[in-house]
Amino acid sequence: NPPAPPGKLPLVGHLHQIPKGKLIQHLLAVARQHPGGIFKMTFGPRESLFIYSADLVAELSDETRFRKMPGPGLKQVRAFAGDGLFTAFTEEENWGKAHRILMPAFSQRAMRGYFDMILEVVDELVEKWSGPAGKGDIHVSDDMTRLTLDSIAIAGFDHRFHSFQKEQLDPFLEAMGSALGEAMQRLTRLRIQQRFAGKELKQFEADIAMMNDLVDGIIAERRKTPADTNDLLNLMLTAVDAETGEALDDVNIRYQVLTFLIAGHETTSGLLTFAFYLLLRHPHVLAQAYAEADRVLPGDTRPEYRHLAKMDVIERVLKEAQRLWPTAPAYSVAPYEDTIIGGRYALKKDVPVNVISPALHRDPAVWENPEEFDIDRWLPEAERGRNPHAYKPFGSGARACIGRQFAITEAKLAMAVILQKFAISDPHFYRLAIKETLTIKPDEFFMRIRPRSPHE
Ligand code: HEM
Repeated sequence: NPPAPPGKLPLVGHLHQIPKGKLIQHLLAVARQHPGGIFKMTFGPRESLFIYSADLVAELSDETRFRKMPGPGLKQVRAFAGDGLFTAFTEEENWGKAHRILMPAFSQRAMRGYFDMILEVVDELVEKWSGPAGKGDIHVSDDMTRLTLDSIAIAGFDHRFHSFQKEQLDPFLEAMGSALGEAMQRLTRLRIQQRFAGKELKQFEADIAMMNDLVDGIIAERRKTPADTNDLLNLMLTAVDAETGEALDDVNIRYQVLTFLIAGHETTSGLLTFAFYLLLRHPHVLAQAYAEADRVLPGDTRPEYRHLAKMDVIERVLKEAQRLWPTAPAYSVAPYEDTIIGGRYALKKDVPVNVISPALHRDPAVWENPEEFDIDRWLPEAERGRNPHAYKPFGSGARACIGRQFAITEAKLAMAVILQKFAISDPHFYRLAIKETLTIKPDEFFMRIRPRSPHE
């Protein structure tokens, strides 16, 4: 039987031990106290299993035995993302259909086409930071969110939020953040508490209505005025699945649009925010990153797609940031049949178990000094022979992130241009505090910037 933390109470189980809004951090803390790579915890009436050793995760990654099974968290998100790619059950027909239709739009080749769209938004960031806003504190995750939301909206739907020209984050973002936060809160609420959460329910419904309005507007507009672009929306409106001969239906397209807006920006903005935080904590790595930006983009060189392949330091910074703080910090799978893992833990058919990525990424059997930020772990000689299942920032198998190339393209380009143009600093001596929605990101992290002089 897997171990469980002490202090379980009748009815609530372990719920009373979880600080509000800090579920993932609590799970990571409990994982540190249970070195076997597995524990169970009780949330009200529900028992959940958490797994984080590379050996056990290697078993869970065997796609003949396991597949993604949306757990309680994603089931809540289905209230607005339905059977979109991210929240679909693997067996749902729409998953396969949408996966086959959309895969080519996320190939390495397709990234060339998105590069200029992302650069357009990076230019807006540079313009903002070069003006009065650049003289004060920069709220890092807010500006990274402006960048990633605007980029996916252009690549996805040729929609321009122009977030950098606005003081407040777009109301769409407020609604989405609030809906995701509520979906998470529901996980740690008892049924009886849920019954009294009328205000929260009303807000949840209002937030969903707001998001649907925006998305329905975008789709209606495109139907009215077809555009000759290569964006995801055109593909979804016109492509036919080769296997079934069918197109995606309108409701599903709405779910996919919302899915890309959600999945396509929170995680990438969190990644960039953690990466800047970690760079500021490790000046010798920051110096390497500046040097690389100057080598690949000397002076005012305008970035081109081919430059990305030369950004080895920045790529390793991003990989290591995602090891310590994977911004999509958990995913769940279930076995097709009753089974046993690790030679002794019995799992039930179709019942989801959870992989906690930040704990997996610290498995001491794989990672030396796991708490240390060390980008040299990602040198080819250091990677050789490492258990490939010790690192899952983008999930696993057929249900892994479809947007990973997009995310990496975007993060590399943004980081390189920022380091080319600006010197960053942390005059407030930020202490890491993590904000959890469905994703994680540094909370209230401000940095300062100034234009780099030619001799730095
Ligand atoms: C799936 C992480 C960026 C779209 C996933 C999963 C993870 C993940 C862990 C699997 C979830 C599970 O197994 O339940 C990330 C991270 C990102 C990122 C860390 C950035 C650093 C993006 C971007 C897009 C995107 C930019 C879209 C442009 C999706 C979609 C799925 C997915 C649609 C569902 C795929 C499927 O099941 O068919 N992502 N993601 N993600 N991601 Fe990402």
